Amino acid sequence: MNALNIPLEFFPMNAGDVDSVAALESSLQVFPWSRGNFEDSLKAGYGVWVARLGGELIGFSVVMSVIDEAHLLAIGIAKRYQGQGFGARMLRHAMECARLGGAGRLFLEVRPSNERAVALYRHFGFREIGRRRDYYPAIVGREDALVFDKELR
Ligand SMILES: CC(C)(COP(=O)(O)OP(=O)(O)OC[C@H]1O[C@@H](n2cnc3c(N)ncnc32)[C@H](O)[C@@H]1OP(=O)(O)O)[C@@H](O)C(=O)NCCC(=O)NCCS
Repeated sequence: MNALNIPLEFFPMNAGDVDSVAALESSLQVFPWSRGNFEDSLKAGYGVWVARLGGELIGFSVVMSVIDEAHLLAIGIAKRYQGQGFGARMLRHAMECARLGGAGRLFLEVRPSNERAVALYRHFGFREIGRRRDYYPAIVGREDALVFDKELR
């Protein structure tokens, strides 16, 4: 059965999900968020969600909202489910939750080398508004971050 025929369900992340989410993140990133980063996001009351496909945890998103601005801190889809529209659905869900939470704008940082993520954000109409020098650790030295934003209203 094509994965797109199975409903993708979103749930608030809970403490019981943290191990699976941290493992998923580690499978996706060379410099992954730690288990502690996800725990701290839960404790801080950020918008932290998991996506399940037929019960299987295949994705997550973390959004920090401050007054009327939101910041996408992390998002990921399991490799074997990538390229099938799930990332777009995870991002759309995170944007809608931020908007319903009162945010008028969502911004994010992304590595220029992360072409797939950059394409996803451009696909949704995010604008490139800046650059943070040497923001990320890299295999050699450091890498800049591109800063994107999008109006949510
Ligand atoms: C970025 C990520 C969430 C995208 O999820 P995904 O499920 O692969 O994306 P989708 O299938 O929904 O694709 C949505 C859009 O992303 C872009 N995209 C997806 N796969 C792509 C690929 N292989 N090459 C280029 N662009 C791609 C396209 O714009 C695509 O739109 P289209 O299918 O209409 O062309 C996923 O690749 C991922 O988890 N990457 C590792 C973690 C990460 O980098 N997170 C972002 C940190 S800033």
